[in-house]
Amino acid sequence: MLTEKEKLDKLTYLGIELNQVRDLDILMERVLECARSFVNADAGSIYIRNKDKDTLQFTYTQNDTLQERLPAGEKLIYTTFTLPINRESMSGYVATTGQLLNIPNVYAIEPTAPYHFGKQFDEESGYQSRSVITVPLKTRREDILGILQIINAQDENKKIIPFTDSDEKLMLHFASTAAVALERAQMTRSILLRMIRMSEMRDPMETGAHVNRVGGYSTEIYEQWAKRHNLPKEELDRNRDSLRMAAMLHDVGKIAISDVILKKPGRLNGKEFETMKQHTFLGARLFLNARSDFDEAAFDVALNHHERWDGCGYPGHIDVETGKAMAGFISPEGKPMGKKGIEIPIFGRIVALADVYDALSSKRVYKEAWDEQDVLKTIEKEAGAQFDPELIEIFFSRLNVLRSIQNRYRDEP
Ligand code: C2E
Ligand code: SIN
Ligand code: SIN
Ligand code: FE
Ligand code: FE
Repeated sequence: MLTEKEKLDKLTYLGIELNQVRDLDILMERVLECARSFVNADAGSIYIRNKDKDTLQFTYTQNDTLQERLPAGEKLIYTTFTLPINRESMSGYVATTGQLLNIPNVYAIEPTAPYHFGKQFDEESGYQSRSVITVPLKTRREDILGILQIINAQDENKKIIPFTDSDEKLMLHFASTAAVALERAQMTRSILLRMIRMSEMRDPMETGAHVNRVGGYSTEIYEQWAKRHNLPKEELDRNRDSLRMAAMLHDVGKIAISDVILKKPGRLNGKEFETMKQHTFLGARLFLNARSDFDEAAFDVALNHHERWDGCGYPGHIDVETGKAMAGFISPEGKPMGKKGIEIPIFGRIVALADVYDALSSKRVYKEAWDEQDVLKTIEKEAGAQFDPELIEIFFSRLNVLRSIQNRYRDEP
């Protein structure tokens, strides 16, 4: 059990981390760890309210007893399940009423109580829940974003004991920490969605449908790539959302390009095209202080989506802050040297392909849409030149899925 000093240290660190760690997953795991260690609890979970508002999603969980039954280093994996928000389950009751629920023994809940304990989890996992405290994740505006549930408080001898009144106050504290973190992450998300909408409005031909398609193609290609490279499923799950939003923002730097160039009906001249090329690093600058997975993905994509596998793309090896070539990467013509092959981050290689596939298939101010035959011929021809040849293989093996994404997000007439 923790000493008072250790408890104080933990509380202080959690406060600092809330301000420093932008990765929501890491923070939520820390909240669970801290909450559990204060009451010496064996297990705990965080459920997050889904967008539809009617269900809770079992999102984070820790369980020492079940963990000990696993081989060292292996993670607890639960099929994520959802729970309707109504008064029948304990979590649903807490999410509905906003009231904390402190139950000494979940197998002895009075039959008159509106909620009951769902034995299903215990039955499937072979776990024995007993004392359970469930607290709402409430924002200052009283929105309920989810619930925190801590299970099986223990005394020094690991005997399971009920949660006390003072435990209730502590758990409310941890819940409010989790709520602040969640609210902030959800706010970041809504700011991103607004940015995406802005970059759509700016460019008449790059409609919402276009950014949705590029996001869709990119995640489909990435999933297949991740399988081939044996990426752990958790890493794939973590990256997929970041990549989708990053891909949707690939051209966000065009916001800084003048209308005269952006909306020019004909071909750009050399000077205009040089200006246009800046949309890569101008976009990347928005994510320069990369701290979350998303920031990093958005940076990589904005910067690298016009590099070519053969090294002849742009902007090449540059310093994003100045837009100038990095020392040692200046070509004989005095330009930055292009990044080549796997020097180009994978997300950049993927969005490069998704973007061109979509640009060729669509009408632009400066061009008509191409026939699919011509699009596919061009893409095939560019394997190993413009594009990563492995991604071209994946592209053709998943063509039916890509077509269905194309149909799902059609341009409005
Ligand atoms: P975008 O329209 O989204 O095009 C993305 C990429 O698709 C282009 O990158 C290019 O690799 C490919 N692409 C588009 N149209 C064609 C085409 O007709 N033939 C071939 N082979 N590839 C094509 P790129 O060339 O670096 O252009 C970047 C952005 O610059 C374009 O994004 C567009 O916004 C703008 N842009 C490029 N050329 C012109 C032009 O002639 N006129 C105007 N108004 N804008 C242009
Ligand atoms: C997070 O903090 O992990 C979510 C918000 C973001 O993607 O930056
Ligand atoms: C609860 O009811 O809060 C526990 C989840 C379950 O029903 O198993
Ligand atoms: Fe671009
Ligand atoms: Fe584009």
